[in-house]
Amino acid sequence: MVNLTQKERYLLEDEKSHEELCVKKYSNYSQQAKDPQLKQLFKSLGQQEQQHLTTVNQILNGQVPNTNSQQQNPQNQNTTKSNMSNQADADLCNDLLATEKYVSSTYNTAIFEFKDTNIRKALNHIQKEEQEHGEAIFNYMQNNGMYNTQQ
Ligand SMILES: [Fe+2]
Ligand SMILES: [Fe+2]
Repeated sequence: MVNLTQKERYLLEDEKSHEELCVKKYSNYSQQAKDPQLKQLFKSLGQQEQQHLTTVNQILNGQVPNTNSQQQNPQNQNTTKSNMSNQADADLCNDLLATEKYVSSTYNTAIFEFKDTNIRKALNHIQKEEQEHGEAIFNYMQNNGMYNTQQ
């Protein structure tokens, strides 16, 4: 058990609300997405957000989670190219990409304020997964002609 400072608690409450938002978004967007592959991607990323929420709640309860036992990212496989890129699906992707980018940056800021090394590690693990979520969405968009990467 660890005793959290007020500042640590405040930062964790903030992350908790971010994770709740992410769980909600991925769940809603997996229903809205037209491409079945994108539905599946959002569903699996949403499951990881649920795990993040559980971890943040554990830390808020004074438990230090074991980072090593957490699951591996399942969704970084390359997707197949489809000719029909759907604007509505692209909008969902762009919105989640912006969300991931923002949430990842808040973890980066929060990490610097924690006394406990293992809590830092747990938060770092979550932040790494947020970056991987961004990568998975980025890859999906690129493979489906939704993302302009200019040389
Ligand atoms: Fe998350
Ligand atoms: Fe995420």
